[in-house]
Amino acid sequence: MEPCDLLIHSAAQVVTCAGPPGPRRGAALRELAMITNGAVAIRDTTIIAVGASDELRRRFHPIHEIDARGRALCPGLIDCHTHIVYAGDRVAEFEQRCAGATYQEIMAAGGGILRTMQLTRSATTMKLVAETLPRLRQMLQLGTTTAEVKTGYGLERDAELRQLAAIALLSGAQPIELVPTFLPAHAVPPEFSGRASEYIDLVVTEMLPLAHEWYRKSSFAARDIPLFVDVFCERGAFDVAQSRRVLTAARDFGLPRKAHVDEFVALGGLEMALELGATSVDHLDVTAAPAFATLANSSTIAVLLPLVSLNLGLIHFAAARQMIDAGVAVALSTDANPGSAPSVSLPLTMAIACRYMGMLPAEALIATTVNAAHAIGLGGRVGSLMPGMQADLLVLTTGDYRWLMYELGGMPVEQVIKRGRVVWDKPNG
Ligand code: NIG
Ligand code: FE
Repeated sequence: MEPCDLLIHSAAQVVTCAGPPGPRRGAALRELAMITNGAVAIRDTTIIAVGASDELRRRFHPIHEIDARGRALCPGLIDCHTHIVYAGDRVAEFEQRCAGATYQEIMAAGGGILRTMQLTRSATTMKLVAETLPRLRQMLQLGTTTAEVKTGYGLERDAELRQLAAIALLSGAQPIELVPTFLPAHAVPPEFSGRASEYIDLVVTEMLPLAHEWYRKSSFAARDIPLFVDVFCERGAFDVAQSRRVLTAARDFGLPRKAHVDEFVALGGLEMALELGATSVDHLDVTAAPAFATLANSSTIAVLLPLVSLNLGLIHFAAARQMIDAGVAVALSTDANPGSAPSVSLPLTMAIACRYMGMLPAEALIATTVNAAHAIGLGGRVGSLMPGMQADLLVLTTGDYRWLMYELGGMPVEQVIKRGRVVWDKPNG
């Protein structure tokens, strides 16, 4: 018998999401490569075998074992677009929106992102860490094992660098693996009101070089985890020319790129981001159908964020069904942030995607595992249960993975395993 550290066996379903390298498109977006009555063998932090439970129990002599008792196993979920490092909340604006104000009206009146900016600017790094830890804990309990985290509430040199420092501290302080994204062009800060281009000068000449320097010396670079650069290309934020300057400067530094595009108005940011080889383009709520073919022919991932439409009470959702049918590599994410998406739940995100964007449960799972991993540059490391992949997986509370999407607002995860260690056990699970 071969030794292994952990054998998880007797699972009704092992949803491996295994397949060829690269993001999934078209019919491949719904191929789960499921094994019934399956098991997963782990050595140290890595998966070494996936297969039939009987076979793996004959083959391996484990130090530890978990009897999954007919539950389903799936890859740890990956939240590839979040804004979880901030101070305070926007509860008062939520009430204003309940009374009829729109997100854009609140933003134009100096609230929204700028409200969170004020609170974040006056917070120390340790306060940002302390306020964010409970959010990460909740994410873990909902099955997220890897998350991208953006800056973008500092909007000035030192406060943006404090957000980066907080992300680095948080990545060592709890089990979820974090991928940092620098988003200094998230909103025009008040001191540059009406002078967005001058703020972009500062971003490009001073903030981006400092972020790059910080990254080179960070634990992320040492672990080969990328630093992304993102921009909010939107009416009321940054136009296409300004956004292009940020992403071009990022490219010149050799940093991978993302862009918030087509959330409310299609300005042409999508095409610009594709031209600059963005790893992902995010939102795409109002993207017109002719762009789907262009997207499908690129290697860029389309990250869709249905909780924003849900939270803003909009009846319009991104056209996931048409995008998938056109061959676009679609990923899903929460967009967790205090304004447009106050939720860290990927199960809820998948549930809404299935109900309002025409996605199948299998597609929603690939979109929050394999394709989400590619959206943050970790495609070959996490997102599927295959030998050689990092041992990040979930034992669900039921034997059918579709409960992840079927249940609304539930807690569908019984155990979370990160790098081969059990990092969360549901009480009385
Ligand atoms: O992705 N769209 C821009 N940024 C966030 C919202 C952030 C906020 O409202 O605080 C988003 O929706
Ligand atoms: Fe966002």
